Amino acid sequence: MAQEIIRVEDLHKTYFSGPVQVEVLKGISLSVSVGEVVVIKGPSGVGKSTLLHLIGALDLPTSGKVYIDGQDLEQLSNSDMARFRNKSIGFVFQFHHLLPEFTAYENVLLPSFMHEPLTKEKQEYAKHLLGEVGLLHRLDHKPNELSGGEQQRVAVARALINKPKVLLADEPTGNLDRKNSDMLYELLLDLNKKLNQTLVIVTHDEHITLKAHRIIELDDGRIANEIRRD
Ligand SMILES: Nc1ncnc2c1ncn2[C@@H]1O[C@H](COP(=O)(O)OP(=O)(O)OP(=O)(O)O)[C@@H](O)[C@H]1O
Ligand SMILES: [Mg+2]
Repeated sequence: MAQEIIRVEDLHKTYFSGPVQVEVLKGISLSVSVGEVVVIKGPSGVGKSTLLHLIGALDLPTSGKVYIDGQDLEQLSNSDMARFRNKSIGFVFQFHHLLPEFTAYENVLLPSFMHEPLTKEKQEYAKHLLGEVGLLHRLDHKPNELSGGEQQRVAVARALINKPKVLLADEPTGNLDRKNSDMLYELLLDLNKKLNQTLVIVTHDEHITLKAHRIIELDDGRIANEIRRD
């Protein structure tokens, strides 16, 4: 039996906005093995980003548990949580959140020296990753000097800089054309193989869906369908 890296137990999430309660997740349980590629699908507003945020410890569940690599996320203090997330989890958001005052290269490098000293090796790896996403010629550009797709690719390189065990990606190719999104998925699949990195991706893209080990479909706050391809 492959080693478990993500465990989600009976996860519920209800948002309260004023008097209105929105029950988004109604009991999600899930186990993901090291090295697995899992695609999450479902209609807009179903709770895909919410689920990814909870797995990535960016938000807290209303009830239920999330374990990453055996660590119960609820047991971490805020500062331990930040460190754990920085080291173990890479996140590519639906919207990229690059820091506008820093160059592409600096944006990629930033997560690598938040908790540890900056090394030559990390500087080289940041350049290597920007090369992998086809942006070596844009190292010194700031986000507002990059196209939407280029910004998205910088965000992917940034998520990979610490070689996280788990990469969570929320429609990472939303801004990209066919050629660039295929390139990006090949990079993610390559890293998945080379580094045995686990990928959980929200996408409707056929290219990656066809290559995923598992496809999970959300509907009405629950897992409506699960297809395994082992
Ligand atoms: N902070 C919040 N407060 C209240 N409701 C929220 C909040 N965040 C999300 N929601 C609601 O929760 C539901 C799920 O949102 P979520 O972003 O997870 O959907 P999604 O499946 O990722 O959709 P999309 O495919 O459009 O990105 C939506 O109906 C949304 O309006
Ligand atoms: Mg979303």
